[in-house]
Amino acid sequence: MLFDKFGRQHTYLRISLTDNCNLRCFYCMPEQEYAFAPPSKLMQPHEIVEIAQTFVEQGITKIRLTGGEPFVRKDADKILAGLAPLPVQLTCTTNGVRTDALLPMIKAANFSSINISLDTLNAQKFHKITGRNLFEKVRSNIDLLLNEGIPCKLNVVVMKGLNDDEILDFVGLTKELPLEVRFIEFMPFSGNKWTSNQVFTLNEIKEVIQRRYTIHAQIGDIHDTAKRFGIAGHQGSFAVISTMSEPFCAGCNRIRLTADGKLKNCLFSTQETDLLSAFRRGEPIIPLIEANITSKAYALGGQLEKDYMQIDADKLENRSMITIGG
Ligand code: 5AD
Ligand code: SF4
Repeated sequence: MLFDKFGRQHTYLRISLTDNCNLRCFYCMPEQEYAFAPPSKLMQPHEIVEIAQTFVEQGITKIRLTGGEPFVRKDADKILAGLAPLPVQLTCTTNGVRTDALLPMIKAANFSSINISLDTLNAQKFHKITGRNLFEKVRSNIDLLLNEGIPCKLNVVVMKGLNDDEILDFVGLTKELPLEVRFIEFMPFSGNKWTSNQVFTLNEIKEVIQRRYTIHAQIGDIHDTAKRFGIAGHQGSFAVISTMSEPFCAGCNRIRLTADGKLKNCLFSTQETDLLSAFRRGEPIIPLIEANITSKAYALGGQLEKDYMQIDADKLENRSMITIGG
């Protein structure tokens, strides 16, 4: 079992399938020209499945596939087919662009739920944020998934002055649609031009929503990153992921595997363990996994200030979000 030195058991593995994406969200892609990892550096389907199997033997019960955009991988079907027999809850985070094109494969994967990243309900703003004119496509793909009865969550990164004026529109969606809208506080990563004054916090988000609605906090679980709220008469609900203003590290049960096979024990960890190279050399990876988890810092990779207002994003040592996978 994968315990860290603070007694936290790790049961949730996030696997990035690729650092490539069919969108260009400015806060995720680094500003410099970015060279995607060459295919030989990426974990191949059988490698992903075998490494995942090892994790499952070590107590992992939930696996989330991320990217970049996981479904730009041409061999996603092979990966899904290989993961399907594992006794885990399988989920994914996608931008929803290819959902209709890949619907049979997505249905066959039996995801327990799907998270779709969508930061705006305005087509022009979608273009401004993602560099692509694909709002209608993503919006209709959300309906498509809901019509299929697949539980959906929307990930909305809230950025002050950019989309904080749409919070009530997103909450409005949950009246008729059984969606969970998850507002995510904007986080600093390499090259994403983060400044603390762009963060729209949990309290600010609640304040905006409470001007219109009476909200009820829902009971959570220690491992939740999201603080959940309900509104009477709404089919759906909303939640806030308050990484910056109220980090939730105490109950962390998550580890991440990057598309190039490096284990990262926190979104903000500086150290990574190269599992893929060891795996390819035929070396045992369990000791490497254990050592990586033992070295996990208590909070925020050990490098962020408690007070997010004091963070200097230029001093952070990390990857860009596209190479971590969220
Ligand atoms: N801050 C907060 N969330 C982010 N995401 C990507 N970059 C950031 C950031 N800087 C989100 C994506 C996706 C999820 C995996 O992480 O929008 O929904
Ligand atoms: Fe692609 Fe998601 Fe990054 Fe946007 S946030 S560039 S959709 S991986």
